[in-house]
Parts: sequence; C-alpha cells; structure tokens
Amino acid sequence: MESAPKTILQSVCDTPLRSGTIGWMQTMIERKPLEQIEADALVVPVFEGQKETRFGAVDLADSGEISGKSLELTLLHHAPGVAARRVLLVGAGKPEKFDTAELRKLAGAALRHLKSKSVKRIALVLEPDHASAGYACAAVEGAILGDYEPDRYKTEDDKKSVESFAVVVPGGAASLNEAVDRGRILAEAQNFTRDLVNEPANRLTPAKVVEAARRMASEYGLECEVLERSQMEALGMNALLGVAQGSAEPPALIEIRYRPAQPGFKAHLGLVGKGVTFDTGGISIKPADGMEKMKYDMAGGAAMIGAMRAIAQLRPPLPVTAFIPCVENMPGSRAQRPGDIVSAMSGKTIEVINTDAEGRLILADALTYARRKGCTHLVDAATLTGAIVVALGHLNVGLFANDDAMRDRVLGAAKAEGERMWAMPLEDDYKDYLKSPFADLANVGGRAGGAVTAAIFLKQFAEETPWVHLDIAGTAWLDDCKPYQAKGPSGVPVRTLVRLAMEWKD
Ligand code: BES
Ligand code: ZN
Ligand code: ZN
Repeated sequence: MESAPKTILQSVCDTPLRSGTIGWMQTMIERKPLEQIEADALVVPVFEGQKETRFGAVDLADSGEISGKSLELTLLHHAPGVAARRVLLVGAGKPEKFDTAELRKLAGAALRHLKSKSVKRIALVLEPDHASAGYACAAVEGAILGDYEPDRYKTEDDKKSVESFAVVVPGGAASLNEAVDRGRILAEAQNFTRDLVNEPANRLTPAKVVEAARRMASEYGLECEVLERSQMEALGMNALLGVAQGSAEPPALIEIRYRPAQPGFKAHLGLVGKGVTFDTGGISIKPADGMEKMKYDMAGGAAMIGAMRAIAQLRPPLPVTAFIPCVENMPGSRAQRPGDIVSAMSGKTIEVINTDAEGRLILADALTYARRKGCTHLVDAATLTGAIVVALGHLNVGLFANDDAMRDRVLGAAKAEGERMWAMPLEDDYKDYLKSPFADLANVGGRAGGAVTAAIFLKQFAEETPWVHLDIAGTAWLDDCKPYQAKGPSGVPVRTLVRLAMEWKD
C-alpha cells in the first residue's frame, strides 16, 4: 500500500461521509507481472484496430463484438492465464488519439462500471508506451473522480464502494509512486470542490463556506483571513454589500494564503471565485423552474478553495492567494432595487439595472481587493451568465482575458489537464454596451453578447493587472451523468488552476 488515504473531508454539515467521497479508496502502483495480479478485476485498454489482447482468447477482429471504440466495455470472467477473477476490456479509441485525458475517462468509466457490480479491488493495466508518470497520474485521477457520487444525503444503506485501485506497470520506476500521490491530491481536491458545490443552500450559507475554508486551511497549513460586513463597509465594498443586503445571512470575503518556502518570486497569483451560496435573482427574481440549481452559484469559489487545498500539498514556487466573496442573493425587504447606484471599492459607480447580475458586482470588489493585496496576476472563476451556456453549451469553459500571455498560460494548463476552455473576444468596444446615463457603468447590457458584456464589466475592475476570467456557468454542473462521471458538480477548473501555479516560471 503505497498511498494510504491521508484525509477524510470533514463535512461542513453533520452527515458522516461514506465511500465515494474523499480518502476511502486505496491507490497504488502494482509492479508484478500482470498474470500474477490477484485483483477482482483487471482493466485492460483495447484500441481500435487492435487484433488481439494479451489474453489471446479474444479474437477482437473477427467476433465483431469488440471494436475498441472509446469507453466500450466488455467484461470477461475467468480469462485464461491471469490470476484476476475478471478482465474488463475498455475501448481506448484510436491509438494516435489516445492521451492522458482519454485515459482519465477510461479509468473513471471502468471504475464506475465495476463498482456497480460490487467489485472491490481493481487493477488497471498501462501499456508499456503509456507507463509514464503523466499517464499513471491521470489513471488515478480518473478512478477517484469516477468514484465520486453526489449522494451524501441519501440514507439507504446499499451504497457500493471500491477498496483499491492499482495502476499496473510491471517493473515500474519508483518515481511512479509520486505520480500516484499527485493524482490523488488533485482528484481529492476536485472532489472536495464537488462536495462543497453540491451542498444545498440551507446547509451551506456564507458562514458555512467560511467554516469549510478555515478548516481546510488549518488542515493544510494555509493562512485564512475573513472580512466581515463592518470591515467591508470600512473598505467601501458597496458593490458586494449591495448584493448581500437582501439576505439575513451575513456576507464574508474569504482570503486564503499560500506562501512558498523560498520568498522573492516576482509574480503573485490571485484566484478570485464567485461564492453566491444561492441566487434567487434578488428583486429581479428568477423563474421557479430550475431555480433549485442556483445552489451551485458558488462553484467558482469552491473551485478556488479546492485548488488551494492541492496547492498547499504540491507547493508551487510562487505565492498564491484565493479571494472568495460569499453572499446569498435574496429579495428581502432590505434588498437592493433595480435602479440603485452603488459605489464600488475602486471608486467606480454602478447602476444596478438587474439584481440578478449579482456575480459581477461581488467580483468587482473582490478583484479590486486582490489587486490592493499585491496580486500581480489574476484568474477568476464564476458561474456568471446563462449566455455562456447558449454560446458554448456544457463542454467548454468560456475564457476571457485582457492579456495574451496570461490567456495562453491558462489555455495551456487547461489543455494539459483535459479541462476544455474556449477563448472568447473582449475588445474594449464592448464597453459601450454597459453605458449608463446616471453612473460610470451599468451592471448589464442588452441580451446581445451576454457573456462578453459580463466579462467586459469585470475587466474594468481588473484594470491593468493581467487577468483571465473563466465563465463556468455551463461546465460546473452536469445535468446528465457520463460513463466516467456522476451527474452534478464537475469540480472544473480545479486541475487547471493547480497546474497553472505549478508551471509558473518567472
Ligand atoms: N448565476 C447566474 C448565471 C447562471 C445561469 C449560472 C445559469 C448557472 C446557470 C447569474 O447570476 C445570472 O443570473 N446571470 C444573468 C445575467 C443577466 C441578468 C444579465 C443571466 O445570465 O441570466
Ligand atoms: Zn444572478
Ligand atoms: Zn449568480
């Protein structure tokens, strides 16, 4: 057992966690010849056009039963020549298209299928061509992510759990153990984010997000400081406070700090995440249909807390600070009204035309605060607009940037992590859409280009700091399950953010 579970997520609520959440399944490298592996199931990738498996017994080309198409599953019992009780052949697609993203999905699909059959010990075979740290890491990630279920509040006792997941690399190098640890850290951080996102708004108020952030920070040796309402008033964060004033739940601005052992790095990365624990729309109230999903309006903030959890363990070279403005957007009797004018921390005045465009208001002050705190580069993640779902569906995160180098860094990290992102336009001409006759800018434009006008609003608070905005409204929550992933919270873009920090060079 090379990497025993290190932590179990302390729930922000009282419900005990069971399998499917963090830290239960063992992960390891298995170095024995694969014939000798005594797993309950051996998972073997099969490529399109592959004529036979290592087990000879299956004539893939002729039977027509197995094509090798991506994620096709064939379970064999009592395969000849192996100690394992079952062999699961999993389609890996075309060999020239196979990469770590494909393996991550393959591992997740295999795990979910075998778990549904109550299989306990799984071993996934890596071909010699793929016996590298990157692939081993992706396999472990895929398994841990696939294991996640958003079913904490189901009380039936028939939940299944997998005990162990091994990556089989006969005679594999010692360095592969590190890859397994890295995969576990990343996937657990992502599942931690998913758990937070999945919490309903009666259980996860801004105060509870604070509790979860503080607990995570103290567990991993990070500093955590929280601004409360009176401090925000003193700082002039009226854009944020205006959103909070319609709710009985007090707002909070969480700051989580990671500092590398070696100081003196020039860059300081700021991660800013939208933490609206529930978005009713406020006085510009949303229709009832589908409103229950607005519990995931804090997914950007949860991603930053999850990313900091992994960053604390993997220790990148540069300082990283997360800022999470947390509010509940409610239409209480003190709620802000359409037409109200608020004065943001930066000094700009904003006419609040639509109280449902609240994310940009809280992010405006959080971005200003992050700049004042010395961040030289900023990334924000926010479930900001329905318009990004219209533009890109549920496949790609919408990426907006005021700096090409920063855009390319984030796109590069996203590609390496298999989190799809698409760069959107952000010319200053779009500023005209937000003109107000009464204030410096309005908080909404018309219906046209809704995701871009939201981003151009934020750009005016990022000012000159190199900045990337990630609109995750379409990707933070999946309504349909995938073979490798449960429905519900996705945990995007945790892995991209961690890689961005880890690969920072200057
Ligand atoms: N939280 C929503 C955006 C959203 C929509 C997230 C769908 C997840 C799924 C955001 O606060 C919002 O309400 N945006 C408005 C902006 C509009 C009033 C300009 C929207 O997109 O409709
Ligand atoms: Zn809204
Ligand atoms: Zn919102």
